Amino acid sequence: MEEITALAKRRGFIFQSSEIYGGINGLWDYGPLGAVLKQNVKRAWWRDTVELRDDVVAFDSSIIMHPLVWKASGHLDAFHDVMIDCKVCKHRFRADHLKDRSQCPDCGSKDSFTEPRNFNLMMRTSIGPMEDTSSVAYLRPETAQGIFVNFKNIYQSARKRPPFGVAQIGKSFRNEITPGNFTFRVREFEQAELEYFVPDDGADMETFRAWVERRKNWYASYGIASERLRFYELTDSERPHYAKAGIDVEYLFPWGWGELESIAHRGTYDLDAHMALSGKDLRFFDEAAKAHYTPLLIESSAGMDRTALTFLIDAYERERSVDPNGKETERTVLRFHPFIAPVQVAIFSLARNKPELVERATSIEAALRPEFRTQYDEGNIGQLYRRQDEIGTPFCVTVDYETMDDGSVTLRSRDSMQQERVPGDQLNELLRERLR
Ligand code: GAP
Repeated sequence: MEEITALAKRRGFIFQSSEIYGGINGLWDYGPLGAVLKQNVKRAWWRDTVELRDDVVAFDSSIIMHPLVWKASGHLDAFHDVMIDCKVCKHRFRADHLKDRSQCPDCGSKDSFTEPRNFNLMMRTSIGPMEDTSSVAYLRPETAQGIFVNFKNIYQSARKRPPFGVAQIGKSFRNEITPGNFTFRVREFEQAELEYFVPDDGADMETFRAWVERRKNWYASYGIASERLRFYELTDSERPHYAKAGIDVEYLFPWGWGELESIAHRGTYDLDAHMALSGKDLRFFDEAAKAHYTPLLIESSAGMDRTALTFLIDAYERERSVDPNGKETERTVLRFHPFIAPVQVAIFSLARNKPELVERATSIEAALRPEFRTQYDEGNIGQLYRRQDEIGTPFCVTVDYETMDDGSVTLRSRDSMQQERVPGDQLNELLRERLR
């Protein structure tokens, strides 16, 4: 994990937020490559969940909503962790993370803990110029509620009838007591949530299982190792009382299994809660049956920061090999899927000080840029390959003196490290084929 964290900083994936002021716990910034990596993860989710489905519509709700939204959802009254402090070293723990309470695991003091206290995880803010209680508001702890309170607006304007889904990707905030494990548990993060509404016609569990299957295929199609991924079925006692089924998608991180996504059958709980508090009818009107009903809800909620971190960790490899001269070499490589890789093709000029090579290489890069995520570089080819391996670029193209004679370039693959001569003017076609 230390190696990955160091690489993430060195190559511009992830930086500590506000680093020059000493950083701030549980908050991170995405660097030039990390921003693209996370964007690609979100695009991959959006493509599969929204664009390839004719029954899912897009949504984007505000981060701050009416405080009563959080009353109805239960977050105001029940969205808390139990915390406990060491009176000696002041370290704060989540009570459920402390196995043995006789001795502080941080400073070793005996019987030094405070009584456990509830701690609401919602971040508070205030709206308007007066900081009195009437202006208290919250940064959303999940994006889902924006969809529930708009349910009627959405189905009426989009002319959808259950079964249909609403998808949203956006920031959520939780004042975690103990953020940690790099970007795994943070206080500001992005969620990709699908709320899929179905009629109560007996096919709901089948739809639930179909979404689980679809999400399974999604992780597999972007190359996440199946042996490090599991779909853990929550038992009756682990699920909230209103949920009919629940599956946690978990990845085996260097520190153990951690949740990436939760898929849940939530019944009518969320719409019921908003109808009860707002007094508004959010039920669906079935024209054919001339009757109102409250649809059941199947939810898939994935953390995009955790998923981006998973892609980074899963792709990471320190590879030892023997070069043609019998010398043992080692390289660090990120084996990103081509859709996820921040840079897809790097184009090099063999020499820095040869204008004709530089010109040819930059013009090849310009021709590839509209179609692929490209990067131009020049200098020592061995070093350039190592750098691109480290950021997970699937292909490198080198322009050399031979290119000036016959137009051919060297195409080098990240995974096999094989190099081949190919015609420079056929690169778009070739790469289109290989980057699929
Ligand atoms: N609407 C359902 C919901 O929010 P959740 O299990 O609380 O469910 C869904 O959250 C996902 O959001 C988690 O599986 C995780 O990937 C992500 N997530 C939750 N808290 C997080 C945190 N503090 N840091 C990073 N990601 C988080």
